[in-house]
Amino acid sequence: MNAVKAEQAQAVNGAGEVIEIIHGEVKPSNLNALRVRGGNRLKGEIKISGAKNAALKHMCAALLTDQPMEFTNMPVGLGDVRTLAELLDYLGMSVALRSDGVAMLHAKEIKTTIAPYDLVRKMRASVLVLGPLLARCGQADISMPGGCAIGTRPVDLHLKGFEAMGANIELDGGYIKARAPRGLKGAHITFPFVSVGATENIMMAATLAEGITVLSNAAREPEIIDQGNALIAMGAKIEGLGTSEIRIEGVKSLNGITHSCIPDRIETGTYMCAVGLAGGEVRLKNTRLDFLSSLVGPLTGAGMEIKQDGDDVFVYRNGNHLQGIDIMTEPFPGFPTDLQAQFMAMMTMCKGAGMVTETIFENRFMHVPELCRMGANITIQGNSAIVRGVDKLKGAEVMATDLRASVALVLAGLVAEGETIVNRIYHLERGYENIVEKLTGVGADIERVSER
Ligand code: EPZ
Repeated sequence: MNAVKAEQAQAVNGAGEVIEIIHGEVKPSNLNALRVRGGNRLKGEIKISGAKNAALKHMCAALLTDQPMEFTNMPVGLGDVRTLAELLDYLGMSVALRSDGVAMLHAKEIKTTIAPYDLVRKMRASVLVLGPLLARCGQADISMPGGCAIGTRPVDLHLKGFEAMGANIELDGGYIKARAPRGLKGAHITFPFVSVGATENIMMAATLAEGITVLSNAAREPEIIDQGNALIAMGAKIEGLGTSEIRIEGVKSLNGITHSCIPDRIETGTYMCAVGLAGGEVRLKNTRLDFLSSLVGPLTGAGMEIKQDGDDVFVYRNGNHLQGIDIMTEPFPGFPTDLQAQFMAMMTMCKGAGMVTETIFENRFMHVPELCRMGANITIQGNSAIVRGVDKLKGAEVMATDLRASVALVLAGLVAEGETIVNRIYHLERGYENIVEKLTGVGADIERVSER
């Protein structure tokens, strides 16, 4: 492998403290594509990383306290975690990401409440510094976030929530300018539809607001429960986690804690779909099936065997093709939108047909034309895609501009005849830690190459 091991980078932040951001394996910039040769069944073990979408929120929550915070089981190798670390460092937090999955974060002082375009544009989750900054400092200027190209993805629910809590919000020059000089006040906020990010952003801010905040029609994702549990350990008063009504009573200050991040259910589900497509038997280490009941139903219905075995999940498919099956994405506990592309890739070789309906994002079928270039038979009708199973896929040069669409193409490559080149793996590396090593470890033929 041509990867080079980078030195630990050390720097001094504005508060005069030494910070270290471990860059770990740095891939030479010309290795920006993956080559997959299809046909191998998968066998062995894959260690599941900590959940990206919980880890990012834990890191933002560290802005709420001047005490040191330590998180374990963090996916420190992910592009998104590194990007957020850079932003938090800029805001004045000392950030140490250790290669053993420990993140040590200390926002003793906030150096600036401005999150500039250059640091925010790469990742939509950056908007989650807004709630903590507003709660702790009474102000924040956040550049409007970017992220995956899966739809328009506004942040209006976040902003309306903060306004209901007494903040004054203006949009000016591409920035969200939020002010609450006399502090945030508790409010009853009813979301018109479920939003993961708005629930988290407002829940964080409400922990330090004056009085009681009630969030109705709140999101119930496991990552929100994990974040809420960490906040409770910090001294926050939160009830109703995992239900659609969350009640938060503000406190004066929060403490530092040590907390272990939950396993990544989307990474787990992705490798389950990989086994569903390629066949074989794989033990997914250190993960939880109870986060994935909406996926396990369709997978076992289609013909797979899946069981929790202690801290591991065992996944098996024999040589038979899976049955076509229908799914529809919904907020948790429904089928996750973040597994829709992988499930569709798996269905391309099913017996019969399956229908995949996307209800969360309006532009999340970008993998479809690319899968079709590999020989899949998929027709889009509105927000549904009908996948008619084919006997074989053929390797091709493909590309995707969103994280989950990219991984779906990698999965298709695992069974396609010949060679599949997946270009622009930047997005993949935002959300899948060591994917090449993990898939190689279970027998896949996959390597990093330079884009042609
Ligand atoms: C989170 O995004 C995840 N990201 C996404 O993961 C995931 O797809 C999504 O939740 C849904 O499960 C992180 O946790 C960092 P939302 P988020 O607010 O919070 C609309 C991945 O691949 N909306 O629940 O941004 C929005 O456009 C990804 O890891 C508004 O209209 O999602 C979408 O259609 C990408 N106004 C729907 O709601 C708002 O103010 C749900 O979005 C907020 C959202």
